[in-house]
Amino acid sequence: MTTLTINGESRSIKASPDTPLLYVLRDELGLNAAKYGCGLGQCGACTVMVDGKAVFSCITPVMLLQGRTITTLEGLGTVEAPGPMQRAFIAEQAAQCGFCIPGMMMRAQALLNRVPHATDQSIRAELQPHLCRCGTHMRILRAVRRAAEDMKPKTA
Ligand code: FES
Repeated sequence: MTTLTINGESRSIKASPDTPLLYVLRDELGLNAAKYGCGLGQCGACTVMVDGKAVFSCITPVMLLQGRTITTLEGLGTVEAPGPMQRAFIAEQAAQCGFCIPGMMMRAQALLNRVPHATDQSIRAELQPHLCRCGTHMRILRAVRRAAEDMKPKTA
């Protein structure tokens, strides 16, 4: 049995150790924010954070994740109490179909954790691995900028 730390909770996993994390999240744990897009590490829809870094969960077997800290979109906030990244995407109405958005939010969060004052250029570069066929790319950019602003440490 594999034990994983997901969104601050210790979870025992029944799936075999070579099962990709995405399947465990969605099928065993009911955490459905990470999406199945390509299953091949090529679209970004399944992105979560592992130890604060963006990772494609569709190609990451759970056996590599023991002792690591996994965060899914559910860990950034709830419907009742959305976190800053989620609030920013809502405020900018950045989702069109919305399928790619959870993965984009996770990678954007990982970026802002690392580089709180990320430039437009670095936000664009960071989100390159994420495929999106809708038309809200500028709204997504604005949402990440807004989240960065909201997350900035407030000085007195
Ligand atoms: Fe994982 Fe496409 S579903 S990268």
